[in-house]
Amino acid sequence: MALLHSGDEARGKAWQDVFARELPEVEFRCWPDMGDPGDIRYLVAWTLTRELIDSLPNLEILFSIGAGIDQLDLSIVPDHVRIVRMIEPGITTTMTQYVVTAVLALHRDLPFYLKEQREGRWSPARTLLCSERRVGIMGLGELGRASLAALAPFGFRLRGWSRSAHAIPGVECFAGADGLEPFLAGCDVLVCLLPLTAATRGILCRDLFERLPSGARVINAARGGHLVAQDLLDALDSGHIAAAMLDVADPEPLPRDHPFYRHPAVFLTPHISGVTRVETAVHSLIANLRRELSGLPLDGEVDRNRGY
Ligand code: OXD
Repeated sequence: MALLHSGDEARGKAWQDVFARELPEVEFRCWPDMGDPGDIRYLVAWTLTRELIDSLPNLEILFSIGAGIDQLDLSIVPDHVRIVRMIEPGITTTMTQYVVTAVLALHRDLPFYLKEQREGRWSPARTLLCSERRVGIMGLGELGRASLAALAPFGFRLRGWSRSAHAIPGVECFAGADGLEPFLAGCDVLVCLLPLTAATRGILCRDLFERLPSGARVINAARGGHLVAQDLLDALDSGHIAAAMLDVADPEPLPRDHPFYRHPAVFLTPHISGVTRVETAVHSLIANLRRELSGLPLDGEVDRNRGY
């Protein structure tokens, strides 16, 4: 029984050593050295090619290297293959750090002060307490819940929205299409951590921005495909949205002449918010394989119809 790693060579080598020590019953192979493809039951990859998928006749489970699975072209993966997203402490820690950094940066008006600095102006503005700011997170999976927990000690008024109902102590939760408008109406800072699916593509658009309070701030640490870039630029230029912090874009990298690079109210980072850590992710993968070998449910298994 073998697992094939496809992607970064150094990561593959490092994980191979850990597997040899901790889960020798699953032989860890690194593409393109796949040996007999008939042995391979598990594949761990960030992206796929049809050639790779077609060469694995006995594939049972595809593990994503990242928290998201939208970068995997599942249309080429046979229906019986189970898909698992990565849930691991490295991604969760780095994402919560990013969300806290972004919320505090926009709460304390850093894009405005950076612009004032660049223009040689000294312009103190009114400072709000965290308890005077409502922060809403769209997407209440592992990363959304961890980010809410990390924001709680600052005293922000927290709210969350997701497709299905959740109850999180200290967080006002909203669900489904009916819950979206009341949720947005109370978000001074909106954070998108949704999975990218057919239902969420383009969700950060004019219509959504209009439902936010005037002067709201927007953070997207999910996928560039959630955002309609021109709608955000219009909302920033009209002043309805005060500032945005974006870690993801469509396409990535953004072309050099894209207005996000120069807009004074946009903070742009190059998709570094939640990072799969080589040192920690391998242990989550091994723990998940142990679950599989013991017949237990997998952590992070995706419902292929729902798309996450
Ligand atoms: C991920 C990512 O999905 O890095 O993990 O975006």
